[in-house]
Amino acid sequence: MKKVIAIYPGSFDPPTNGHLDLIERGSKIFDQLVVAILRNAEKSPLFSLSERRLMLEAMTESFKNVQVDTFDGLTVDYAARLNARVVLRGIRAISDYEYELQMALMNRKLQPDLETVFMMPAEQYSYLSSRLVREVAQLGGSVKDLVPEMVEQRLREKLDPAIKLEHARETKTRKRV
Ligand code: PNS
Repeated sequence: MKKVIAIYPGSFDPPTNGHLDLIERGSKIFDQLVVAILRNAEKSPLFSLSERRLMLEAMTESFKNVQVDTFDGLTVDYAARLNARVVLRGIRAISDYEYELQMALMNRKLQPDLETVFMMPAEQYSYLSSRLVREVAQLGGSVKDLVPEMVEQRLREKLDPAIKLEHARETKTRKRV
C-alpha cells in the first residue's frame, strides 16, 4: 500500500506544547509527517526561520517518521513536491473553525486530491497559541508547561540578551573544566 505522507504547515513562532501534542498524534497515524515552517517575508517573526527549525528539530528528535522543513509559496504546491496527500491542522476551539474551514476549502479548490485532516490537541492546550506565548513571555509572565523547556530558555534569551551572554559564559566555563 502507498505510504501516506502528511505535511503540518504553520508559523511555529514559537513552537508550543500544543504543536508538539499534534505532531505526536499525527506521527501515529501517518507514515511520514513533515512539519513545514512557512517562510513568510511579510511577517516579522520573533524567532528567525533557522531558530524555529532548530527548536522543532530538537522537539521532534524522538519521532523517527517526523521531519522538519521550510517552504514558501502555496501549501498545495509544496505538498505536491513532497507527494503529500494530507495537510494536518489542529483545531482547538470553535473560534479556529472558520479560518481553518476557509483555508481547507481554498486548498481543496486549488488541489482537490489534497485532503485536510483536523486533529484536536489535548484539552490542556486548547487555549494555547504562539501569539499568547509571545505576549506572556514579552510581558514577563511564565510560559512553563506551555512550551518545551528548551523553547522557554530560548524565549528568555531572546527577550533578555544578558541571559544569553550568561548562558554562553557558563557553557564555556563548563567546557574548560
Ligand atoms: O500557523 P499559522 O500561521 O496558522 O499557519 C498558516 C499557514 C502557514 C498554514 C497558511 O498561512 C498557509 O498555508 N500559507 C501558505 C500560503 C498559501 O498556501 N495560502 C493559501 C492557503 S488558503
